[in-house]
Amino acid sequence: MLRIQKVKSIQGTVRVPGDKSISHRAVMFGALAEGTTTISGFLPGADCLSTISCFRRMGIQIEQQDDQVVVHGKGWFGLEEPKEKLDVGNSGTTIRLISGILSTQPFHVVLEGDESIAKRPMRRVVGPLRQMGAKIDGRKNGEFTPLAIRGTELSGIQYDSPVASAQVKSAILLAGLQAKGVTSVNEPHLSRDHTERMLAAFGVQVVRDGLTVSVEGGQRLVGREISVPGDISSAAFLIAAVMMVPGSSLVIENVGMNPTRTGIVDVVRAMGGRIDLVNERVVNEEPVADLHVFHSELTGTVVEGEIIPRLIDEIPVIAVLASQASGTTLIRDAEELKVKETDRIATVVSELSKFGANITPTDDGMIIKGKTSLKAASIDSMGDHRIGMAMAIAGLSAEGVTQIANAEAINVSFPGFAALLDSISSK
Ligand code: S3P
Repeated sequence: MLRIQKVKSIQGTVRVPGDKSISHRAVMFGALAEGTTTISGFLPGADCLSTISCFRRMGIQIEQQDDQVVVHGKGWFGLEEPKEKLDVGNSGTTIRLISGILSTQPFHVVLEGDESIAKRPMRRVVGPLRQMGAKIDGRKNGEFTPLAIRGTELSGIQYDSPVASAQVKSAILLAGLQAKGVTSVNEPHLSRDHTERMLAAFGVQVVRDGLTVSVEGGQRLVGREISVPGDISSAAFLIAAVMMVPGSSLVIENVGMNPTRTGIVDVVRAMGGRIDLVNERVVNEEPVADLHVFHSELTGTVVEGEIIPRLIDEIPVIAVLASQASGTTLIRDAEELKVKETDRIATVVSELSKFGANITPTDDGMIIKGKTSLKAASIDSMGDHRIGMAMAIAGLSAEGVTQIANAEAINVSFPGFAALLDSISSK
């Protein structure tokens, strides 16, 4: 149980844990590369630890201490058939990307995760991988876990993805690296491109043409050093805290600023919030900056279209911000929220309503009317890390003591969240 109280102000200079998407990929690509990969700034959250444990079970030696990781890669075909099922825990990125990798391996694997993973759609990756020749089965004809994969020789495809999903794009591209010919993926909007950037850093040739990205089969990865920047999706909760609490300002150092992830900065600025970028640089193909964030009075906005994949994980906390902005905020084109760790349209609406916010669900998003004064509530994270954190931020400006049940889910992406928040709050 996490308890959150109204605070007087938020001040300080902090760093947030490493980027989740980049940490997963660093471990996966390190395992498939020839030679050693050294990772600093790794996110030691439950999801990325699931990725490490899956590769250890396939015979890859990985040393991990806090945010330092050394992966002893054995080359693409150096993985061994695991003796037991691979457990992906709560991690959608692990199961979907690994499915692409395992489709090329000459062995059999069963993949399984927690209750939330068991409800998440897998055919979005299983379908295209089957088109490439992969042998994958699962409940409801491959829609749900457990998934059973027997790797085989694949052929490249040109895939037109109906969704802007980096997990789908990455699974297909990874399978494509060992398929015959060229594999390309086209998406309706650009989703996060960490796979493309990091594959290039590992020595792979990746070709981008607008919304289409292609790789040729038969390429090798070479181990290297990777420095993971702070996760903008975690920084988003602190940005929101500053915007919620009058008189606050905060420096968040070393945050990943990949343009496919910075929708939150664009939306906060569109609402009237001040975020200055300082010390902008590029590390391992990824843009990074320090963020100087200042409390600002916000007004409602419309969030729709191509920006949605650039802030999909930040929508729960954007809804919280919208409850404290004057006017109406509309969130549209975000039906993907329904297939995240929880149905985030339903869970954001149910939990934020408990604080007294004026929020209505729609088919593809939500409508929030501000500004309402929030009252402390008894919240359930429903096992969803981002719901737990978004509601903790709402609690910072609510009268009374907010209680968040199942708050341990926060460790999935932001270990130390409550302590960090406490360290920058004056009560
Ligand atoms: C991720 C992609 C996104 C995002 C998830 C991480 C990734 O999911 O929501 O938290 O690391 O590729 P989709 O690809 O399903 O949109």
